[in-house]
Amino acid sequence: MKERYERPIIQPQQPYQMNPFGRTAALEAMTAIESVAVSELVAQYGSPLFVFSERSLRHQYRAARRAFTVRYPKVQFAWSYKTNYLQSICAVFHQEGAWAEVVSEFEYAMARRQGIAGPHIIFNGPFKSKAALCRAVTEGAIINLDCTDELETMLDIADDLGRPLTVGFRVNLDAGLPQSWNRFGFNLENGEARDAVRLAVESGKLIVRGLHCHVGTFILDPEVYRRQAKKLTVFTQEIEADFGIELTYLDLGGGFASTNTLQAQYLAGEQITPSFDQYAEAICSELLALQSRPAGFPLLILESGRALVDEAGSLIATVVATKPLPIGMRGVVLDVGLNALYTATWYRHQVIPAQSFSGFMEESVVYGPLCMNIDVVRDTVMLPPLGLGDRVLIKPVGAYNTSQWMQWIQARPAVVLISEQGEVDLIRERETIEDLAHRERVPSRLGQSGAS
Ligand SMILES: Cc1ncc(COP(=O)(O)O)c(C=O)c1O
Repeated sequence: MKERYERPIIQPQQPYQMNPFGRTAALEAMTAIESVAVSELVAQYGSPLFVFSERSLRHQYRAARRAFTVRYPKVQFAWSYKTNYLQSICAVFHQEGAWAEVVSEFEYAMARRQGIAGPHIIFNGPFKSKAALCRAVTEGAIINLDCTDELETMLDIADDLGRPLTVGFRVNLDAGLPQSWNRFGFNLENGEARDAVRLAVESGKLIVRGLHCHVGTFILDPEVYRRQAKKLTVFTQEIEADFGIELTYLDLGGGFASTNTLQAQYLAGEQITPSFDQYAEAICSELLALQSRPAGFPLLILESGRALVDEAGSLIATVVATKPLPIGMRGVVLDVGLNALYTATWYRHQVIPAQSFSGFMEESVVYGPLCMNIDVVRDTVMLPPLGLGDRVLIKPVGAYNTSQWMQWIQARPAVVLISEQGEVDLIRERETIEDLAHRERVPSRLGQSGAS
């Protein structure tokens, strides 16, 4: 094969290219996922390819569940559909005993299609149409109201059905985060949440059964949950005493971090992500104050998403070009980028060669295949020399990507699931142009366009 000459670019030394310890972390090739060779996976299913590990899904779920059940007597997880609603992924969590947590009519329909009974669906979100609420009421779902308009819609539905309806309220509160999420639910500190509960109780048409609060996502500090749990505990005691109601559940939402590393994070996620035990300790030690209620402890619901699924997902990608960049770094172009890896915008995902390598590590920028400047998978990462056709693994990528991916410039990749026994199942086919085209309607006057 003819060797290629690349004109060298002479650059002054750039000290920022070194990490503070003056050397890079050791990088080892990862040639297999769950003992299945990357080369085999690509030979059979092509590249790019999402690969999920069922062992990891079950392991994370059980670890999270154990952390809470050893500390609190009534715990229920509800799988956050938006985090990953591939049917097989949802099925694993449902098999493990999780209910479904949905945030739209669309997701509600998915959970029902998945066979989840209404009483095991938690219906959250800022937009629930009257029709969607009616369906959820009829099917006995747990509904957490988001705003006064929705509260009024529920009062209408109660009138229409001629019976009182059971509801919960989403509450937002200051748990000490730099920016608290206050756009969802009723604010606790300014009295809005209390007013909403009063309105519901005084109407005689709504039975208030629970509180829901999701403080945010990728929360690295368990103390945030301690403050959240404390405020919810105190609020529960207040409204129960003042309005003579009895809550049956407290839903603390999701938000536990995975071992990913945020762009702005100094230490790697694997070093600093709290354990499920740390989160559980913070939450449960506050909720124990509810023991003295006549009804005992309310059910603790958790809607953890990314912490359960992120580690289970890897993305196999292929190097389609490499180029010297005028800034003195190596550009590596992959066959997948932000189209299927939305989370690369805020995480420094690991990019690991999937075959053995040698040669000097070089500061590299990893691009996706989109003809768009924003399509950057990693903006600075030390990589060994990679050649055309080499594979890399990008991980962890199990959360949010296979629900937020786009058909933009490239079709969506296939997804496989590796069972605990090492069997590989295709759980979503690679998309084709037909998947996109069959929803379009071309007016007859435009006929079949194209040069002929
Ligand atoms: C209401 C609600 N519950 C649960 C989740 C899952 O969050 P996470 O994936 O951070 O655990 C979300 C995500 O934002 C959410 O909005």
